[in-house]
Amino acid sequence: MTAAADGREPGTRPAAYSAAQKSLHWIMAAVVLFMIPVGLVMVRIPEGPAQGKLFDLHRSFGLVVLALAVVRAAVRTAHGAPADYPGLTQFERLASNAAHRTLYVLIFLMPLLGWAGESAFGASWTFFGLFLVPHILPDNHALSDLLLGAHRWAGYLMAAILAAHIGGALIHAVIKRDGVLTRMLPGG
Ligand code: HEM
Repeated sequence: MTAAADGREPGTRPAAYSAAQKSLHWIMAAVVLFMIPVGLVMVRIPEGPAQGKLFDLHRSFGLVVLALAVVRAAVRTAHGAPADYPGLTQFERLASNAAHRTLYVLIFLMPLLGWAGESAFGASWTFFGLFLVPHILPDNHALSDLLLGAHRWAGYLMAAILAAHIGGALIHAVIKRDGVLTRMLPGG
């Protein structure tokens, strides 16, 4: 086996997140934090052009999340991730690792459940008006209800984990004033 591209020995962890990992983290954070309120609002406003526009945005940006998730997982596999921050308590280590793993699953699962649910519903929609998005399942309204129900509850779970994730990062930055948040910032 040869050393990694950055000169590390195989099997060792990098000292820091790469610039690509940090960029992907913040781009995805912005898109997901836009998607959740759009999803919550669009299903609660009356049918009409505004609702249609929000559904279009939600479905298209959802596929952007899926594409970013694929790139992010590939970059993580190639580069790895630094070891846990050394000052963490046992609880912080377990909770943050569980949150990060679940968020990784959800950035794939959420768009796939939405796409599969809309496909089984027979919905016809375009990616930002550019091309018709293919269906990944045949029409089946009972299955669509099941998939979109799962999409809804996974969305609530994602919102709760994101609140804890952001809250935890802020506690480290503002109260503990340690280097946890800095690890995901440029130069960190
Ligand atoms: C990371 C990506 C995504 C996130 C975070 C997300 C989040 C959400 C949330 C929070 C809701 C509101 C649930 C409710 O209160 O009922 C929702 C609804 C919905 N989403 Fe997504 N979504 C994502 C991707 C997608 C994609 C890719 C599609 C379709 C291609 C999609 C289709 C829908 C539909 C059709 C609903 C309404 C479901 C219903 O009628 O109950 N979503 N989404």
